[in-house]
Order: sequence, then structure tokens, then C-alpha cells
Amino acid sequence: MKKIQISPSILAADFSQLGEEISRLEKGGADMIHVDVMDGHFVPNLTIGPPVIKTLRNYTKLPFDVHLMISPVHKYIKNFAEAGSDIITIHPETTDNVKDSIKLIKSLNNKVGLSINPDVPLKTINNFLPDIDLVLVMSVFPGFGGQKFIPEVLDKIKNLNKIKIENNYNFQIEVDGGINFENSKSVIDAGADILVSGTTIFKDNQGDIKKNIDLLKNLK
Ligand code: DX5
Ligand code: ZN
Repeated sequence: MKKIQISPSILAADFSQLGEEISRLEKGGADMIHVDVMDGHFVPNLTIGPPVIKTLRNYTKLPFDVHLMISPVHKYIKNFAEAGSDIITIHPETTDNVKDSIKLIKSLNNKVGLSINPDVPLKTINNFLPDIDLVLVMSVFPGFGGQKFIPEVLDKIKNLNKIKIENNYNFQIEVDGGINFENSKSVIDAGADILVSGTTIFKDNQGDIKKNIDLLKNLK
């Protein structure tokens, strides 16, 4: 039975008490914390940066699954690693040299992920698959929480999982955007190992985080 991990996105948290919200996620059974970093350039929204991550680092030992939606990204990677990230995921179109950025992230003792938007084909990351720990498949166009899941992405997840099995690659498949109780089982069955969720975890069932994480985890 595959172990499904949940990486709640703090984009949907109460930003006036992010530390406490992270403690609630940990108590509720989160496996890691998904930190959406947005620069208002690669995506039309602005969120948090290294100084905030540095302070949040004291609130939990859970891995910080940092999703960098910033461009150009290469020169900022070290700042996020020093602030306390454990996984750094970048979008291939935000760096001049994907291989160099992967190497840099690994040199900073972080796991490395590549994220592909709904309109970005798998072939864009094909050559990097042997070298990475994570593929973050976007099931919404990045920038905002609370968007609707794009069902066409399910085929992309299935194809990626097929490539992973056929080549015996080690990367995990993480899916991000619009994940809820209605679609999480099909996302898991398509091959996802990690589910990112913000709105469903923080808002459903009167914000009962533990219940929402358990519901997402147990759907297999
Ligand atoms: C969107 C972010 C997602 C998003 C997920 O740009 O990358 O992580 O916050 O939030 P929900 O679950 O609300 O779609
Ligand atoms: Zn994200």
C-alpha cells in the first residue's frame, strides 16, 4: 500500500499567525509544509521570502517543501537554503541552466524538485528526471490558492508515473493545486506520492486540520 504524504500549503493559512498555523499543521499530521514563494513576476502574486522562512523554521522540525515561483531563480536559491528549506522546487523556465540550478540545490543539502505548469509538456524535464528527487505537477496555473483542479493534468501524472516505473527513477510525484476530497483519490491512483493542499485543509470541515489531512490521506 503506497504511503501518501500531505504537504499543506501555508498560502491558505492565516498570515497573521503563520507560526501557530504551522504548529497546528504538525499536530494535525502534516508530513511537510508547502511554502509557496511568489515574486509578482513569474506569477501575478507576491507572498513571502527567506526572512519569513527563517523565523518559521523555529516552529517545526517538519521538512519545508519550498516551491519557488520566482524568476530568475538561480541567484536566490542559496538564500532559501540558508533560511531553512529542505526541498527546493523550481520551474525550469525560471533559470538559464537547469542542470546548474539542480547542482546548486543539491550542494546546499536540499532535495531538488522541478515544477511543470499545466501547459508545460513532460518532455521539458525529461533529461533531468534521473537527477531530481521530486516532480511537482501543477494542477492549476500557479499564483493563487482556491483555484479549480484542471482534470486534464491526470493524464500527465499517469504518463509521468509510467516513465518513472519504466526507467526505475527515484523521484516522487507531488501534485499541487485544487486538490480536494472529490479528486484526491484519482490523483493518487494516477501516481501521486505527495498531495499539496491549502484551501481544503484549512477551510473544509470548519478548519479541522487533522480531519481534513486524514480524509485526504486515507482516500486510496
Ligand atoms: C498555487 C500554489 C498552490 C496552492 C494550493 O500557485 O502553488 O500550492 O497554494 O492551494 P489550493 O489547495 O488552495 O489550490
Ligand atoms: Zn505550490
